[in-house]
Amino acid sequence: MTTEQARQRVEELKEKLNKANDAYYGDAAPIMSDREFDKLLEELLEIELEFDLQTSNSPTVRIGGKPSKTFRNVQHPVPMLSLSNTYSVEELFDFDKRVQNILGHSDYTYNAELKYDGMALRLRYENGSLVLGATRGDGTTGDDITANVRTIDDIPLQLKGDYPEIVEVRGEAYMELKAFDEMNRQREEEGESVFANPRNATAGTLKLQDPTTVAGRPIRYFAYDLLFEKDDELLTQSDKLKLLAEYGLPVCNIHAVCNTIGDVSKLIEAWDEERHTHPFETDGAVIKVNQEKLRDVLGQTAKAPRWAIAYKFAAEQAITTIKEITLQVGRLGTVTPVAELEPVQLAGTTVKRASLHNEDEIRRKDIRPGDRVMVEKAGEIIPQVVSVVNPDAKGRQEPFSMPEECPACGSELARIEDEVALRCNNPACPPQVRIRIEHFASRAAMDIDGLGEAVVAQLVEQGLIETYADLYSLSTEDLLPLERMAEKSAKNLIDAINASKEQPFERVLYGLGVRFVGNKVAKDLAKSMGSIDAIMDATEEELAEIDSIGPRIASSVVQYFSAEPNREIIRRLKEYGLNFEAEQQEKASSALEGFTFVITGTLPTLKRKEAGDLIEQNGGKVTGSVSKKTSYLLAGEDAGSKLDKAKKLGITILEENQLFEMIG
Ligand code: IVH
Repeated sequence: MTTEQARQRVEELKEKLNKANDAYYGDAAPIMSDREFDKLLEELLEIELEFDLQTSNSPTVRIGGKPSKTFRNVQHPVPMLSLSNTYSVEELFDFDKRVQNILGHSDYTYNAELKYDGMALRLRYENGSLVLGATRGDGTTGDDITANVRTIDDIPLQLKGDYPEIVEVRGEAYMELKAFDEMNRQREEEGESVFANPRNATAGTLKLQDPTTVAGRPIRYFAYDLLFEKDDELLTQSDKLKLLAEYGLPVCNIHAVCNTIGDVSKLIEAWDEERHTHPFETDGAVIKVNQEKLRDVLGQTAKAPRWAIAYKFAAEQAITTIKEITLQVGRLGTVTPVAELEPVQLAGTTVKRASLHNEDEIRRKDIRPGDRVMVEKAGEIIPQVVSVVNPDAKGRQEPFSMPEECPACGSELARIEDEVALRCNNPACPPQVRIRIEHFASRAAMDIDGLGEAVVAQLVEQGLIETYADLYSLSTEDLLPLERMAEKSAKNLIDAINASKEQPFERVLYGLGVRFVGNKVAKDLAKSMGSIDAIMDATEEELAEIDSIGPRIASSVVQYFSAEPNREIIRRLKEYGLNFEAEQQEKASSALEGFTFVITGTLPTLKRKEAGDLIEQNGGKVTGSVSKKTSYLLAGEDAGSKLDKAKKLGITILEENQLFEMIG
């Protein structure tokens, strides 16, 4: 390679890597796999070193993300570094040799931890109170995302135990796989774009400007490092994990001290085997020299410490062929394209299908029937098509396009404004009918044992039921002719259907399957409005006053209950004796009876939800926006427009301790 060629290649690699970095950190949507990225980075480093071409802005020097423009920037007192990666056990031994060479002895141990695949998140506690949550950004300056971080239930607002004045915590925000899958399933159903994997979902969520939305997303946290102000408190990594747990921070219980690098390699082999048994995604292990005082001796390069290394497990991807692209109709009529795959082994299971989400996604990746594709398991259940491996192959089939008619019932499909999804609006469309009933009977809704997919399909096919209200008029005799239905199972099913009449209102409400009304929204609606009649009479504005309900949900609720067929179903369900009123909550007092509260800003000790519950338990009402009807504005730090509006309207502003006084 000539110097000129080297220069050219360096520029090429820098551009590719910078693009990938921006996509990964800036847009939280990666365009290449970690492994590919690492390969290019390694090539770049080699050329830079050989031809002395390294500059301070090279991706080999600077750390991925840039702090974004929209959040307040914060300087990290101790930089948030990256880790060097390796994919081979041999390189682990090389790493150990380097450590030994620098130290000049082998008087140290290792602490091995899992590498959690999420987003690095720094926390700062002063006198035990959480004062800051920040992203890594470029390693020196990150984003102040405290308001978002406060909504993460795993993260205590107040430390426990015997903590020093300043506590700096480093850790990883992540999402559990099941919760991620469920969130994506709902998003897809609701015509929203889906996240590629839990890591992007986490990063994307924590960059949102609206903490209420963040609060509704299943973000979790593992703390993995603790920084002290004073050097004399230096400990071992394993002691620090213990201390973090004592302070009340969540620490993953999978970690171990190893005496030699040989022990480390045995351990991570075992971890690789069992990596799928964890509820969260892990892409490797992090091996850290356990003795804190040796960290200073070992120091760091521009990017990563010399006292730690990340060992990455082999990528969980496989290559296979798309046999055909089929279409699936969901409960709300969303038509989703699905790739039917040549079966392939991936992460311990055989994968036969992968969701392609929507037409835009297929266009973006240019996925066509017959293509060889890379598939990846992003969640526990749903595999994804990452990319086409042969985009330049000759004789590829024509690009796929969505049909204009519903594949199940032939009605014309509609594309809803602002959404990527296509929808079939025929309420009698058979798969929709089936899925609505399955949803109604599901565990989180009416929990009707024995009413699974196969039984529902038969009931609908035989014309025995058209809506879930018809379930309550079924008799044992109706069921007996069905396949695999004996006297006893038929009787059990009828008993289960009757027993479901006792389910509380919030479950019935969720079971109805109103668009955008998930579990949590159903609970909030039931609690705030008290009965189905109140909900049916409410205007969009009234509904939008409820804390977790925005205009989009409010409009969907009003639309649902104004449709006559839906009202008819409710009337029938009422006759069958289902619960359409919320149970009265045990009240702590009625000190706040007749008062309406709005909560804004960050309160000193309570989360907003906790304050809301407290007000309601004492007879008060909580709404989302300030109006003339508001009695009090409970305001914390960084209160914004609501405070201004309350002042204008002459509404009494309360601090948290004044609320405590009011309820004694
Ligand atoms: S220690 C000096 N421990 O991996 C860096 N990092 O490239 C210290 N990560 O996004 C990091 N699990 O947030 C450490 N058990 C663990 C980790 C871990 C995941 C992340 C980290 C960062 C990336 C490092």
